[in-house]
Amino acid sequence: MPSLLSHLLLITAAASLAAAAPAPSRVSDFTKRSSSTCTFTEAASASASKSDCSTIVLSDIEVPAGETLDLSDLSDGTQVIFDGTTTFGYEEWKGPLIRISGSSITVTANDGAVINGDGSRWWDSEGTNGGKTKPKFFYAHSLDDSTISGLTIKNTPVQAISVQSNNLVIEDVTIDNSDGDDNGGHNTDGFDISESTYITITNPTVKNQDDCLAINSGENIYWSGATCSGGHGLSIGSVGDRDDNTVKNVTITDSTVSDSANGIRIKTTYDATGSVSDVTFSDITLSGITDYGVVIEQDYENGSPTGTPTDGVPITGLTVDGIIGSLEDDAVEVYIMCAEDSCTDWTWGDVSLTGGSTSDDCENVPSGASC
Ligand SMILES: *[C@@H]1O[C@H](CO)[C@@H](O)[C@H](O)[C@H]1NC(C)=O
Repeated sequence: MPSLLSHLLLITAAASLAAAAPAPSRVSDFTKRSSSTCTFTEAASASASKSDCSTIVLSDIEVPAGETLDLSDLSDGTQVIFDGTTTFGYEEWKGPLIRISGSSITVTANDGAVINGDGSRWWDSEGTNGGKTKPKFFYAHSLDDSTISGLTIKNTPVQAISVQSNNLVIEDVTIDNSDGDDNGGHNTDGFDISESTYITITNPTVKNQDDCLAINSGENIYWSGATCSGGHGLSIGSVGDRDDNTVKNVTITDSTVSDSANGIRIKTTYDATGSVSDVTFSDITLSGITDYGVVIEQDYENGSPTGTPTDGVPITGLTVDGIIGSLEDDAVEVYIMCAEDSCTDWTWGDVSLTGGSTSDDCENVPSGASC
């Protein structure tokens, strides 16, 4: 049970850690075994002693307000296991609440483990656009040649998992922010990928209020077996006006998107430069889509379409095939807004959507595609 005293001790430990390495030896709540499996019940102890452990068990950790569960720079080959319930104190700050980095790291969870952001404390329907400052949730940055599997995450304050890594596999991860549907959850993206190569995400479940997947930059990305609901669908972009503006060789396949604003989407930024190439969306089943089944537009600026597409971020080598399912009455099946000659070499297979209407507003639709 947390007490004021133990919180004070934690803060003291954290403060002395920040002031001077090496770690204090009086951290009392971890057991270091000869096999160097360490079980931690406090975030500060885990952060302080992480490099001594080849296996780190995070057991019912209550991360203090305004602090990160910081497992950065782990030793090569470290295993991290979430156990029990991981919770976070309340503070308005940018986060992240969890950070894990290193090489050849394996992150898993024991049966029944839940990482619970209790996001309702921050939700105010404004997400990252205003209101309370909300902490980002999980940074998988510089988590290279590594695997994350079987995590269950609930109710993140805003965006859930930010990926900036090389050769990372994420499998069987559930992000359930459905409590935010009627409760002010906003910008609760499931997976945001940027500046990454060789990312494989299989069998994710995402219930949220923004993109299930958003790829802003990166190469050699494979996504399959997803169940997405409640949010904005499977997105690339917006691409342009960032540090890295190349999206290349992406496959998004074998997924369902339900009760969401869009099914699949590519957005590039107005008057910016970059490229989107060799992207495949295939075998994606839609239902309950409210805005667009398939939407591809080159006119985004400050998070909104301008209606004026530009050609600085061409979309080439796009394959769209096996996009089936149903939309709400006032949704649009397919919308394509390209600048002249900047959408080329597209392959358009089976796109069979029912329930919505067709668009009269498409521009510069490349040959093969239909709007
Ligand atoms: C495309 O990315 C996949 C990983 O998703 C990789 O296996 C494949 O080799 C890449 N293709 C090219 C041409 O780089």
